[in-house]
Amino acid sequence: ADIYGAERPNSKGFDLTAPEKVAALTEQMQAALSRNWTAGPIVGGVELSGPTQPVTDPANRARTVGTVVLADKPAVERALSLSVAAQKQWDREGADHRAACLDRAADLMEADTPALMALLVREAGKTLPDAIAEVREAVDFCRYYAAQARTGLKPVLLPGPTGERNELHLTGRGTFACISPWNFPLAIFVGQVVAALVTGNAVIAKPAEQTPLIAAEAVRMLHKAGVPGDVLHLLPGDGATVGAALVADTRIAGVCFTGSTETARLINRSLADRDGAIVPLIAETGGQNCMIVDSTALLEQVVDDCVTSAFQSAGQRCSAMRVLFAQEEIADKLADMLAGAMDLIRLGDPMDVATDVGPVIDNDARDILIAHASRMDGEARLIKAVSVPDAVQNGTFFGPRLYEIDNLSRLKREVFGPILHIVRFKASELDKVAAEIAATGYGLTFGVHSRLEGRAQNLFKTLPVGNTYINRNMVGAVVGVQPFGGQGLSGTGPKAGGPHYLHRFVTEKTLTVNT
Ligand code: NAD
Ligand code: ALA
Repeated sequence: ADIYGAERPNSKGFDLTAPEKVAALTEQMQAALSRNWTAGPIVGGVELSGPTQPVTDPANRARTVGTVVLADKPAVERALSLSVAAQKQWDREGADHRAACLDRAADLMEADTPALMALLVREAGKTLPDAIAEVREAVDFCRYYAAQARTGLKPVLLPGPTGERNELHLTGRGTFACISPWNFPLAIFVGQVVAALVTGNAVIAKPAEQTPLIAAEAVRMLHKAGVPGDVLHLLPGDGATVGAALVADTRIAGVCFTGSTETARLINRSLADRDGAIVPLIAETGGQNCMIVDSTALLEQVVDDCVTSAFQSAGQRCSAMRVLFAQEEIADKLADMLAGAMDLIRLGDPMDVATDVGPVIDNDARDILIAHASRMDGEARLIKAVSVPDAVQNGTFFGPRLYEIDNLSRLKREVFGPILHIVRFKASELDKVAAEIAATGYGLTFGVHSRLEGRAQNLFKTLPVGNTYINRNMVGAVVGVQPFGGQGLSGTGPKAGGPHYLHRFVTEKTLTVNT
């Protein structure tokens, strides 16, 4: 049970070291891929038709995974009017009823894990371990928020000196726009949507352009689990049109956004410029995530943790490490060891269990990485570049790279991919390094490798960062035990998968009765 007494069972893992289990799993995934995968606006429980566009596999652009129909203006309007009409009744159903829907949705997702994994691999380029972890995270979000809602949303009686009956009630705010990124197209999509639903809100979900198929499947499962069609709608489409239109509409009572800091700013501005009520924006955004390694660290473990933190998921995690500060006494050795470890990284088809790093999401993402690498080639020392095998030239792959830069200020913004930058520092410069990290304005994840417990704790206390990891890698926060989210340019909070998240989705009403 968590600090509020809510029971929260986490999902179970999968043994990827047993070849026969992996073979059976990939067979089920391949079978699932032969289904006719489609996504389109799902409004009032009805899947709308229209002109279709192909959704292609980032590991092989010639392979079509399914098709998508983009939402048009009438679909946006209908989703808004239906959700406004349905929300109050959904709110009145009560937290227990809504939590039961989330638990059923978790069961449905778990039961169809191979199909969800297949979409994660083929639509989003996730490796098998990443795909398994993501399905588990989505399931965990459902069960965790369900448990939180059961215990945390009940009216509270407030006896006191007035002699009256005082009650505090928590209710839904109205209709939330949930706008999500492609890099966790199931876990973040589901996490946002179920948090808003379980707190009594209607939801209009706008998935990322690149990953509509898995979002549509998640919405079908939530409907099957009991969420009314008029309460949850899906609008695939472009952020600047569909997303922006939702945010600008005064019928939207709150926005839950995960994506880039730049888009969060646009949304914030649009909400500020709107007429009508002032509504909350929950924004989880990018990072300039750093790790500090001092001369007391265990280098073998550091190398393993750096490879995971910087290159797992092709570096396409908001939590991924971008900058490694290495104390000068160990910097050369660490760089050599890292370069050696990078020789062993295998790029390839993410459906293959031996693949460590899959593709980046699309051509635009790869072009940005190529442009950054070419700038670094002029300004920094290239220590290692992993090449892309010929067998995957049809995909949008980018080989992991390691550069040494002289100063953190060389990095102007988040570099969203498998590029790690080392900066060396002198023992006397630790405070300066911490000040430089704080001065980036980002505050998502931070790592320390040191056997000086006091030093690591001190950095944790000093730095304005959401998630600090000591003597381990800095990715893969676990729902319910490692609440996740940043500060400053990295987000507004509250933390996803933490005990205070749901409260941001509700509004409070106090009732006072003269008895
Ligand atoms: P993005 O900002 O380009 O897009 C995110 C979503 O916003 C998409 O659905 C997009 O269509 C929509 N959007 C774009 N413009 C919009 C507008 N004007 N109005 C409304 N919606 C709009 O981000 P991305 O490239 O999809 O995702 C990668 C980014 O997400 C990275 O910066 C990463 O760090 C961040 N991220 C943060 C977290 C976190 O928890 N802090 C988690 C995952 C990803
Ligand atoms: N929650 C994800 C992680 O911790 C982004 O890596």
